[in-house]
Amino acid sequence: MTVQKPLPHDAAPLHVTGQARYVDDVPVPGDCLHLCFGLSTCARGRITGVDLTSVSEAPGVLAVLTADDLTHANDVSPSVHDEPLLADGEVHYMGQPVFLVVAETHLAARFAAQLGRVTYEEETPILTIEQALEADSRFEGGPVVWSKGDVEEAFSGAPHRLSGRLEVGGQEHFYLEGQAALALPQEGGDMVVQSSTQHPTEIQHKVADALGLPMHAVRVETRRMGGGFGGKESQGNALAVACAVAAQKTGRPCKMRYDRDDDMIVTGKRHDFRIDWEAGYDDEGRLHAVEFTQYARCGWAQDLSLPVADRAMLHADNAYLLPAARITSHRLKTNTQSATAFRGFGGPQGMVGMERVMDAVARERGLDPVEVRRRNFYRPASEVSATAGSGAEPLKEGAVHEGGDVASRGASGPVGSHAIEARGENMTPYGMEVTDFILHEMTDRLLESSDYAGRKQRIAQWNAENPVLKRGIAYSPVKFGISFTLTHLNQAGALVHVYQDGSIHLNHGGTEMGQGLFQKVAQVAASRFGVPLEMVKITATDTGKVPNTSATAASSGSDLNGMATKAACDTIRDRIAECLAALHQTDAARVRFEDGEVKVGEERMSFARAAQIAYENRVSLSATGYYRTPDISWDRQRGQGRPFFYFAYGCAVTEVAIDTLTGENRILRADILHDCGASLNPALDIGQIEGGFVQGAGWLTTEELVWDDLGRLRTHAPSTYKIPACSDRPKVFNVDLWDGENFAETIFRSKAVGEPPLMLGISAWLALMDACAACGPNDPALDTPATAERVLAAVKRARG
Ligand code: MTE
Ligand code: MOS
Repeated sequence: MTVQKPLPHDAAPLHVTGQARYVDDVPVPGDCLHLCFGLSTCARGRITGVDLTSVSEAPGVLAVLTADDLTHANDVSPSVHDEPLLADGEVHYMGQPVFLVVAETHLAARFAAQLGRVTYEEETPILTIEQALEADSRFEGGPVVWSKGDVEEAFSGAPHRLSGRLEVGGQEHFYLEGQAALALPQEGGDMVVQSSTQHPTEIQHKVADALGLPMHAVRVETRRMGGGFGGKESQGNALAVACAVAAQKTGRPCKMRYDRDDDMIVTGKRHDFRIDWEAGYDDEGRLHAVEFTQYARCGWAQDLSLPVADRAMLHADNAYLLPAARITSHRLKTNTQSATAFRGFGGPQGMVGMERVMDAVARERGLDPVEVRRRNFYRPASEVSATAGSGAEPLKEGAVHEGGDVASRGASGPVGSHAIEARGENMTPYGMEVTDFILHEMTDRLLESSDYAGRKQRIAQWNAENPVLKRGIAYSPVKFGISFTLTHLNQAGALVHVYQDGSIHLNHGGTEMGQGLFQKVAQVAASRFGVPLEMVKITATDTGKVPNTSATAASSGSDLNGMATKAACDTIRDRIAECLAALHQTDAARVRFEDGEVKVGEERMSFARAAQIAYENRVSLSATGYYRTPDISWDRQRGQGRPFFYFAYGCAVTEVAIDTLTGENRILRADILHDCGASLNPALDIGQIEGGFVQGAGWLTTEELVWDDLGRLRTHAPSTYKIPACSDRPKVFNVDLWDGENFAETIFRSKAVGEPPLMLGISAWLALMDACAACGPNDPALDTPATAERVLAAVKRARG
């Protein structure tokens, strides 16, 4: 079977030879126009005058559009219609698009965009969390509060109490391919859009609204992105809509791509958070009660901030069973870029809060931080399923079987297996029973393979002997919930054709952003037909082939599209089998698809021959497939339910060194054990884990976003915003896959892998804090990003 093989990314040869086509590489008709936004230079205010004369007179300019020129919806918001394409009377952040230049060339458009004269009646911008709280500037009226147990009583019964405050920085996506779109007008007013987007259906929807067309008149195609990381879930809307509007007005193709600085200045980033925490615990470091107050800086428009903030609340427990907990979330509205999805979608911020608590409790008690974590872990799957009654038996056959029928059981059967009745023994703060917890076993194995105990001793020794350079080591676990919390998004479709020569055309609603989704799904298709991978053609995501898709997000791309594709393949396979069985006067069950052949009883033929016979017998060789995730439900008002189909787990041990004179630091070694269930492709999954860890460590260490007092983003280029370079990866980097299968019935028993490993980067920050703590008796209270400056300050705090 091609699933579970460590095959390279399908487009790897194209990537490394520069042949892979991104939106900007698509050959365009000779009359193509190029666009650029003119941006607000004021963070908050009313527009009092717009003089665009010099813009229109600039060389190569064909048109300049403002909000007044838009004939239909002036709206690129993915949620509550609070995000105009072009500013409508007011501006809400520095960098907001105010006017749109349409020119003959990309450079002409960019040059002209600098010449606009816009005047404002300026107001004092709300920039920080403190300012937003003071002005009561927020989304959703008031804070959202979810809780479990009697928190006050649990606190008063706890022998010890500790509290603190943590600042958690945001993060720029820094996808290597910037945002880009191309609109091609068609006959009768229809529009075709090529977009670098994780969400083609959303682009189709917003373009249709902006053009005053039904969705059927707009077709969106996405072959690949050069990275998305959540930054292309909603942030591509503005470019695609701008291109479509300009193309409708001029009747000519229009293309837009942001210059890197504009990309950073215009688009939203990861939400930065402030987290106030309080913990009540006993002598052994066991938590009795925890309270978190999370303040999320959402920026000027709502975008995806509510579900992001929800996910931060949903991951405030991380891997720990909390007897009592209260989580309060403030969604603050500020005059900055509208913060958006970013790998982990709020989960990382929530987890950082909890890992800070674990560390502080262990330090205060003088206990080993791993031991404290273990004591607070959820109970293992083995114990919980034993007490959970019927249906808790993990299903085993899924990962290995070739001819069975996982998908049909998935929708109806007692998969439930792990959707056991909640008894409260292993309950999250949101009322979901954790029945698949495997971190006890994973942690044992990782501590052993990384020689945690031995190295910890050697590091202590080293620190005792070295006054200037200090080392630190830390372990951290990840438990990440898989599924969109907006339940209806957990669905997907696929379209598969088998041609007369046996070659297979594969299409599904997922998008490729480098994560390897297309390859994994192609492996699924090849496995279902029992053919070599080369017989499956991977094709661009296309709203004309598979409609009403969800964003490729929440790490669920392969879970959803893999299952939908499997369903489509199985439909065709069953039709071929029935046809051949009838011809051979046998049973369809005796037709097998394996080794590139179709076997009917004793007889064998090539898959191509089987397809030819089916065609000649007038059997349809094209099918759609559909999948929806079973067993999930979620009441976000009450903060109760079963929002996740299952959890993905991982753990990491990271070692760092700091220079106590300068705060400079580096990661010396990272050991990771990560759970991908029965991996669909171990090579791609290890790539996701390595990349996720480095991106997470970058977020928490060197990647710092700085806004000045006017609301101007000062870190808007790689010269000032520091993502990890190749040389920043750990010198020793051991990544292993856990070898268990998913308890839940997913595609070949695999698990989602896209986001969870990012949170393994938390161990790098904790290791830095450990190194700082080696400098003195006090809690270093290291905020993030742990830049050299912050590390230096933490060293001073530790010394007291
Ligand atoms: N990996 C690469 N190389 N590039 C990306 O843009 N995005 C991440 C993750 N891994 C990303 C990536 C994010 S935010 C998500 S949600 C998942 O991939 C989406 O893809 P999947 O659902 O197929 O895992
Ligand atoms: Mo990923 S943040 O869900 O696109």
